[in-house]
Amino acid sequence: MLKSVFILSALISIQALPQSPLFLQAHAHEEVHNITGEKLIPNPEPSFHDNDGLKSLAQICKENGFAFEEHKVTTEDGYILTIHRIPGLLHELNETKTTFGPKPVVFLMHGMTGDASMFLLNAPFKTIGFLAVKAGFDVWLGNNRGCKYSLEHTHLKHNDKTPAYWDFDFEDMGTKDLPAMINYTLNATGAEKLSLIGYSMGATQTFAGMSMIPHYFEKTVNLFVGLGPATRLINCRAEALKGAVADMEVIKFVFVDILKEYDFFAPTWLSSLINGEKMAIFPKSFEKFMSSFDMDPYVEERGRIKSISGHLPSGAGYRNFIHYGQLINSDTFKRFDYGASDNLHHYGQLTPPDYPLHASSKLPIALFGGYDDEMADPRDVQWLAEQLGTHRVIGHYMYEKKGHLTFAFGKNMSYFEEDVIPLLHKYETEPRVMVVQ
Ligand SMILES: *[C@@H]1O[C@H](CO)[C@@H](O)[C@H](O)[C@H]1NC(C)=O
Ligand SMILES: *[C@@H]1O[C@H](CO)[C@@H](O)[C@H](O)[C@H]1NC(C)=O
Ligand SMILES: *[C@@H]1O[C@H](CO)[C@@H](O)[C@H](O)[C@H]1NC(C)=O
Ligand SMILES: *[C@@H]1O[C@H](CO)[C@@H](O)[C@H](O)[C@H]1NC(C)=O
Ligand SMILES: *[C@@H]1O[C@H](CO)[C@@H](O)[C@H](O)[C@H]1NC(C)=O
Repeated sequence: MLKSVFILSALISIQALPQSPLFLQAHAHEEVHNITGEKLIPNPEPSFHDNDGLKSLAQICKENGFAFEEHKVTTEDGYILTIHRIPGLLHELNETKTTFGPKPVVFLMHGMTGDASMFLLNAPFKTIGFLAVKAGFDVWLGNNRGCKYSLEHTHLKHNDKTPAYWDFDFEDMGTKDLPAMINYTLNATGAEKLSLIGYSMGATQTFAGMSMIPHYFEKTVNLFVGLGPATRLINCRAEALKGAVADMEVIKFVFVDILKEYDFFAPTWLSSLINGEKMAIFPKSFEKFMSSFDMDPYVEERGRIKSISGHLPSGAGYRNFIHYGQLINSDTFKRFDYGASDNLHHYGQLTPPDYPLHASSKLPIALFGGYDDEMADPRDVQWLAEQLGTHRVIGHYMYEKKGHLTFAFGKNMSYFEEDVIPLLHKYETEPRVMVVQ
């Protein structure tokens, strides 16, 4: 989430400012040497087309032979969300001449400042959305409030300088967006339950939702898969990010209180940052943070940078950033800290309560972590597993050479085919048999 935000943003910056000294400091995590001791230079040339940056998701799906649909759903508090769907391969449609037969459903929930595109922008033969379709699933892709596909609201405007629209964080995405989208998906497919995959903030919001309304998730989800699952963040290793967190009050003061910029990392936000108007007032540590990021050339699929940066970042409400910042400074997974007097109003106590991670006792959970993940640090993922309890964590997978971004944009995505898909099959809910006329 946070890291991916900045990494994705920096990807755009790299494109826009190839000579920027800020970004020349980026370095690989490690050098790789071959058997004769010579340093291997990663091939900078993409081995496949990297031209999806300006295409719509519908176009990307169509060109690769996948069907594509768009649906709208309104949350209980008025946010109008887009849900994307890839029900199958186009040739299936031709063969059956009707509609797609009943399939088990998988729902993909993206990370912060992302949107559904996060699951479609790795190379087509290994991007998560397409892999799940090829494995036989009816794939639905959520878009949280505040990302560019889900900016509408029944009565609030997202683009005026009033904070009401942006007064949300990932807890609302877990307790309101997910239930609205899951309800819609189950109703539309006739499935009784679906498998939910949450990447980064997609996992954070699910754990928040599962803690607050456990019965809803138990009733509708057969398996939750958390990729780079961020909850407790005390071991977050992104040094410069911690610097930005230390400046959180300044950042909030400048951007939220003075400039009234509530959409952090909107598609246009970064370009205005690069153009200097905001960089000038940005705290030093933030600059350092931007430069300390890198996308490991041996691990991440850099051949897709142009495609990724054409779609992301997609926007995120400022309160998500503040909430994640609060988590980095805390030793548990806590609800939003409004300050003592407002906490009293919201929670009936002066400090924010912890999310009751143990609240749901039935829903099976699989956790996927990377030893190089600086956001969802292996120690914090272990802590999460312990909070959830061994009876619920049916799989805790840890990988060498995987960082936070690798789960979506890795060169090597075999974890998804070899480990995630078999789990989805094991827990899938049999689709209802439809009567063929
Ligand atoms: C080691 O890498 C160098 C530079 O890429 C290459 O010229 C050489 O052939 C490689 N040697 C082996 C044994 O792979
Ligand atoms: C499906 O059928 C139509 C017409 O029969 C054809 O034009 C189209 O290319 C086919 N699509 C695929 C993916 O086979
Ligand atoms: C989801 O559907 C259930 C029953 O089908 C209903 O009770 C619940 O209120 C719905 N939730 C949302 C968020 O629409
Ligand atoms: C459920 O689906 C049916 C038909 O598929 C539709 O008529 C109905 O409006 C849907 N209900 C909701 C709450 O979306
Ligand atoms: C890809 O990752 C898997 C673990 O998911 C590992 O076993 C395999 O060796 C990796 N392949 C390559 C080519 O690095």
